[in-house]
Amino acid sequence: MKIYVLNGPNLNLLGVREPGIYGNESYEDLIKMIEGYAKEKKISVKCLQSNHEGALVDFIHEGFYEKIDGIVFNPGAYTHTSIALLDALKATGIPTVEVHISDVNAREAFRRHSFIRPACIATVAGHGTNGYLEAIDLLLAHTQAEVAR
Ligand code: DQA
Repeated sequence: MKIYVLNGPNLNLLGVREPGIYGNESYEDLIKMIEGYAKEKKISVKCLQSNHEGALVDFIHEGFYEKIDGIVFNPGAYTHTSIALLDALKATGIPTVEVHISDVNAREAFRRHSFIRPACIATVAGHGTNGYLEAIDLLLAHTQAEVAR
């Protein structure tokens, strides 16, 4: 099983940006944790981050051509604005789990709407960086269910 973990804008500043909301762990800490977990689960993982919407679209296309099995996706603020990301997920059909470190439903009203949610198999929000690991488990379960079908 091969997956991408995609992070959108400002997530490279984890540990620095609003630690009261996003915690003290850095982006590098997050990636180390994800890579360790993937190794444990015998999954191949590629972690990618960009502050640019089009680059995130390109990553999704790249994953399609690489025939990946799933995406763990935290699009940051593009969650609430990007039809292009929704279309990329719909166009490629890659099973995707949406992740948010913070509880987007308990914050400003504009964070409650996610453009990408209709193209995702699940959403994990408000579980801190552990949510990325939960999302990996959801993708694993999804892939195993598909194989059993
Ligand atoms: C976020 C929530 C978004 O509303 C915000 O714009 C982010 C991070 C989260 O992980 O909680 O950049 O996706």
